[in-house]
Amino acid sequence: MSIKKFTGSFVQQEPLPAKAHERVQSVLASARFHRYGTQHGEQSEAAELETAFADWQGAAFCLAVTSGGQALQIALRAVGVVPGDKVLTNAFTLAPVPGAIAAVGATSVLVETTESLTIDLEDLDQKAAASGAKVLLLSHMRGHIADMGRVMAVCRDRGLMLVEDCAHTMGATFSGVRSGNHGNVACFSTQTYKHINSGEGGFLTTDDAGIAARATMMSGSYMNYMRHGAGPDAQSYEIVRYETPNMSARMDNLRAAILIAQIGPLDTNVRRWNQRHAVLAKALAEISAVTLPANHQNVLRVGSSFQFRLPDANEDTCHAVIARAAELGVELKWFGASEPVGFTSNHKSWRYQDAQTMPATDRILSTLFDMRVPLTFSVEDCEHIGLILQRVIEPDATP
Ligand SMILES: Cc1ncc(COP(=O)(O)O)c(C=O)c1O
Repeated sequence: MSIKKFTGSFVQQEPLPAKAHERVQSVLASARFHRYGTQHGEQSEAAELETAFADWQGAAFCLAVTSGGQALQIALRAVGVVPGDKVLTNAFTLAPVPGAIAAVGATSVLVETTESLTIDLEDLDQKAAASGAKVLLLSHMRGHIADMGRVMAVCRDRGLMLVEDCAHTMGATFSGVRSGNHGNVACFSTQTYKHINSGEGGFLTTDDAGIAARATMMSGSYMNYMRHGAGPDAQSYEIVRYETPNMSARMDNLRAAILIAQIGPLDTNVRRWNQRHAVLAKALAEISAVTLPANHQNVLRVGSSFQFRLPDANEDTCHAVIARAAELGVELKWFGASEPVGFTSNHKSWRYQDAQTMPATDRILSTLFDMRVPLTFSVEDCEHIGLILQRVIEPDATP
């Protein structure tokens, strides 16, 4: 039986809510795009966004910045990372994560990956002890969250500060606590393919006034640091304002106006993503060659992307699956490719840092596939994609 080609776009996000259009129009009309360029008594869109996100996230402080990557660099500096330091991080993540560590002059100590696509906590413990690193940059890569109770225990035992990379977990929870609220500081991205979309942008959240003050100065506040929506009190800046370099990574009012109206629908959108993800998971669970990563029972993941493995496949089979899926309109990414492609790369191509031997991660990545699930896909679209994947993975088994 032939199967219809899928014609949806894997890069098309939903249109912005009407309220976002109104806010954007009003900022455009005002031409006051700079977050500190507001008139007397007026609160900037950037400051309003910080208040809205801090409230939604349940964090004491929130700083809006130009990108998730900038949030990571600022967070690392704000927790005290200096050139020459070692920073523990996941071997399975995307390039901006080791990139942020390199940008602050530190070196990554890569930690192995489990079958659940989370950080290997035994390897973390050993490498924390052996390396003497004082910071863990934990990437909740593709929304897979490790057992945060155990992560925090390792951090306590080894004296690690925890920076959470929540680029893929905005709206996810562990034991009912929002991802990002476990560690010392969290970083989020609002780049187009994330859970809220302003093209580029990011947030840093924390409950620590000192970290918030240093981060705000670094983001380029000059002496306007009290004109933020969810920042610490003036006392927190007393010394910090003289000692912290300005690294210009401010959020502007136009992007803030785009984002504010997207925070309200976030929790509903998490449910919509998970509905689509469940349809795909059901279809793939029917294929014996497929392994799906298992989530910890306390995790509420956001299924904005879909991962599966073909543990017994060789390189030729992986290439063939991608090609057959593409012919039927389904865009798969593959973490096992020897060359980086598009947004996808693995630790072997981050050659600005010392090569590290990661046998467990390499074994998992060699057969790991990845697919975007934008909300422009309906549940029926996901059923269609599920059928296509069944067909391309087991071409002889399907009638
Ligand atoms: C895992 C992860 N962390 C951090 C980032 C950085 O976000 P941004 O693109 O906003 O700099 C990304 C971006 O794709 C990412 O995938």
